[in-house]
Amino acid sequence: MKGIVLSGGSGTRLYPMTRAANKQLLPVYNKPMVYYPLTTLMLAGCREILLVVNPQDEQAYRRLFGDGSQWGLRLEYAVQPTAGGIAEAFLVGRDFIAGDRIGLILGDNLFYGDSLPAMAERGARGTGAVIYAYWVSDPSAYGVIEFDAADRPVAIVEKPKAPRSNWAVTGLYFYDADVCDVAASIPRSARGELEITDVNMHYLKQGRLTVEKLGRGYAWLDTGTPSSLLRAAQFVETVEDRQGLQIGSPEEVAWRKGYIDDAAFARLIEPIRESEYGKYLQRLAARG
Ligand code: TTP
Repeated sequence: MKGIVLSGGSGTRLYPMTRAANKQLLPVYNKPMVYYPLTTLMLAGCREILLVVNPQDEQAYRRLFGDGSQWGLRLEYAVQPTAGGIAEAFLVGRDFIAGDRIGLILGDNLFYGDSLPAMAERGARGTGAVIYAYWVSDPSAYGVIEFDAADRPVAIVEKPKAPRSNWAVTGLYFYDADVCDVAASIPRSARGELEITDVNMHYLKQGRLTVEKLGRGYAWLDTGTPSSLLRAAQFVETVEDRQGLQIGSPEEVAWRKGYIDDAAFARLIEPIRESEYGKYLQRLAARG
C-alpha cells in the first residue's frame, strides 16, 4: 500500500513559530508533529510513502527520515512549489502513485484510538474513495458532511457559515488511482487552491464515496493553532505518562508490524540509548 503525508503548507496561524521552521517539524510533546500521521499510515499498512514538502524544507525532512529503510519503509520526497491546496498532492505525487490505490494524510493531523489500525486498513482495502467523519463542536472550521435520513452522505461543504451537521471531514483519505485525473480536472477555488472537498464531491456524485464515522472512542486532533498545538501535546503527555506507552513512534510501529526485526530494532536504539525516547524503546525491546 502507498501513502502520502502532506507536509507543506504555510502555517500562517502558527506564526512566528513557522517563520523559520516548517509546521510539521514542530514538536507535539516529545516528537516531531509529522511522526503521528506517518505512523497512522504505517498502521494502515503503507510501506511506500511520499512526503510532500515545501522546497525550503526538503533537506530537513531528508535529515529526519532518510530513505525510510531503517523503519522498513521506502520513503520518497516531492516538492510542492507553493501551498496550492491539499488536492495538489495528487498532481505532485502522480508519478509516485503510478496507477495504484493511495492513502493521504495531513501532516498536522493526530489520530488516536484502539481500533485505529483496523479503521485505516478498511480505507486502504476499500474501493473508490473512503473518508472519515468526526463529530466536532465547531464544524464551520472544516469540510462538513450532510447525511440523509438513511445516513447516506449527500453533500460536503467547505467551511460553511451555517453547518448542516457536526460531522467534519478528517485529514485521512483513501482513493483509487482515478484520483490523479479527478484532481487534474477540478478548477481552483476562490482562494486559488485545489480543494480536497471538490475531489470528494466528485466521488460522491459518482456514488463512489464511502464515509466512515469515527465514534467517540477516537481522538482526532489538529495542531494548526497555538492552543490546538498545546492541547495535542497535553493529550499525548497525559496518555503516554499514564500508560508508559508512546503514541506515534515509527520505530515501535515498524518493529511491532514486523517491518524490521529485533536486530534492526536494537541497531536503531543504540545511538539514542541515553535519550528518554531511546530508553522507552529499550524497555520495549527487553520485554519482547
Ligand atoms: P492547513 O492547516 O489548511 O494550512 P497551513 O498548514 O498552510 O496552515 P495555515 O492555515 O495556518 O496557513 O493545511 C492542512 C495540512 O495540509 C497541513 O499539514 C499542511 C498541509 N498542506 C500542504 O502540504 N500543502 C498545501 O497546499 C496546503 C493548503 C496544506
